[in-house]
Amino acid sequence: MNKKIAILPGDGVGPDVIEQAQKVLDAIAERFGHQFDYHHADIGATAINKSGDPLPEYTLETCLNADAVLLGAVGHPSFDNNPKAKMRPEQGLLRLRKELGIYANIRPVKTSPNLLHYSALKAENVKGVDFVIYRELTGGIYFGGSSRSEDGQTATDICRYSTAEVERIARKAFEHAAQRRGKLTLVDKANVLETSRLWREVIQDLAMEYSHVAVNMLYIDNAATRILLTPQQFDIILTPNLFGDVLSHVASLITGSIGMLPSASLGDKTPLFEPIHGSFPYATDRGIANPIAAVLSAALLLEHFKLRKEAKAIRTAVTGLLRQGIATIELDPQMICDTSQIGDILAAYIADEDYQLRQDVVRAGASTII
Ligand code: IPM
Ligand code: MN
Repeated sequence: MNKKIAILPGDGVGPDVIEQAQKVLDAIAERFGHQFDYHHADIGATAINKSGDPLPEYTLETCLNADAVLLGAVGHPSFDNNPKAKMRPEQGLLRLRKELGIYANIRPVKTSPNLLHYSALKAENVKGVDFVIYRELTGGIYFGGSSRSEDGQTATDICRYSTAEVERIARKAFEHAAQRRGKLTLVDKANVLETSRLWREVIQDLAMEYSHVAVNMLYIDNAATRILLTPQQFDIILTPNLFGDVLSHVASLITGSIGMLPSASLGDKTPLFEPIHGSFPYATDRGIANPIAAVLSAALLLEHFKLRKEAKAIRTAVTGLLRQGIATIELDPQMICDTSQIGDILAAYIADEDYQLRQDVVRAGASTII
């Protein structure tokens, strides 16, 4: 298969983790006889610094002309610490999502036996977790418009949803639930918000069409604790933009850290794949960023093109790596394997399924690097 992939490394640890995802994709291309043509472009703070625009025209063009986009992260402290900044790196990503019409952001969370000790939670509480968050990505409070009063003392962000916007992502979520365990949980704040009551109406109507899917509804505050206490209860979670952002970050503690969860964003045009984490400024150029979320995002990309064996080869490599006790420092404080070495090991696993890594060799080798 021949695929054109737009690569947007972005800011902070973005370039570091994307480099590893590319190593993995190269290993897949080699082993399975595919050709991936990469087209690199800037986004976020990197793009602002080069061209004064967080989403330059050529970046958008590159994405629209590609079969898929693989993105690292956007965001930089120089903007975070300056609330008056006129332009922000995040605007590039938000505009790109809107332009690509990728309204469904899919964030799978699944634990593997033997890897439960990496969880930030108690191992017995995260056994057998397997759910998928469907986060609405191009509407709600992220896109309703913001304003300031004339005296600058009052700020407004508008949360708006139409039934059409809710229905299109809800259908995707229902269809996915029907292929899985047939359970869909809507997470909202319908006891307070009118938009949430609209979501409930749409979901209740659709529930009649998808009669094999059992629907329940939870308020976000309740869901935020249940996702940590009894995560096995969830199959498909459907939720508006902002709640989905927060809930998926919380959920990342189940598998270990924010560096573990990938995402796929699907909609009208080119699909986009990105780790759920941000640009993690502290870790930039320190070799401590976890590339697994980016690598697993590449697996979701391949799966989208029905390259299932290939996606599975990536996941097998990731579990193989972790099972051998190799992980980045936030999962294992004793670990001295850096981001790039992890990319190399994963690529080696993919090239040769029998590849066995002697941990003592890695530790000895790594210690000369750091
Ligand atoms: C995410 C990020 C983005 C979001 C930011 C960088 C705009 O946090 O993808 O989770 O809030 O959607
Ligand atoms: Mn986020």
